[in-house]
Amino acid sequence: MTDSSSALRHERVTVADACRRLGAAGLLIGTAGNVSVRVGRRVAITATGAVLATLSASQVTVVDLDGEVVAGTLRPTSELDLHLGVYRRYGTGAVVHTHAPMATALSCVLDELPCVHYQLLTLGGSVRVAPYATFGTPELAESVIGALEGRSAALMANHGALTHATTLDQAVEHALLLEWACGVYHHAAAHGTPRVLDEQQQLAVIEAALARNYGTTRPLDPDDVRGPEHVAHPRPAVQEESR
Ligand code: 13P
Repeated sequence: MTDSSSALRHERVTVADACRRLGAAGLLIGTAGNVSVRVGRRVAITATGAVLATLSASQVTVVDLDGEVVAGTLRPTSELDLHLGVYRRYGTGAVVHTHAPMATALSCVLDELPCVHYQLLTLGGSVRVAPYATFGTPELAESVIGALEGRSAALMANHGALTHATTLDQAVEHALLLEWACGVYHHAAAHGTPRVLDEQQQLAVIEAALARNYGTTRPLDPDDVRGPEHVAHPRPAVQEESR
């Protein structure tokens, strides 16, 4: 160990918070999964064998981008090479790996989760399924890192899911979105062959989203307001009807 235990103290807390959030959302099972966040050349990453849903900051280890331990008392996750490889290849800020139920189920049957809903465009569109390799191996790291090309998410065949983003909050949001999309696909496929958005439909969504700054709240324009009663004193419809 080459540094004091204060290294990335805040990030160790945020990793533990993120794990508990993923657990509350039902994306975690036992000791499966691992989460990390990067600041410069340092990475705060969950310890191997830790129960993520009840994780504490003391179960988060700090390493550098070469995998050297900088702070903490527990061995880092067996998927350390996978996390570090994602940081090296994509320069991203946070990585979330889970064995979330819907994502894992589909990872056992699909080669790719097609773009059946426009929200998948947040992850880059269709989500590839990285070919299977044993957990914790360089082969698995290579397979998943390749499947992430141009994407913020990949499924891992017969294993689980991985998302990455600039911030840990975003990487968690991506994991939640991916699990939701896998659920949508699963339910749709139970009733027929899901329709897939074609390239033109996907482009139209991207254009519309950019034009509207979709997904953010915006103040009303003065022209949108018809009169003060519509904003300040909405009509008490229920009370009037009952008179
Ligand atoms: P760790 O406990 O070593 O993080 O392993 C869990 C896992 O999900 C491996 O892919």
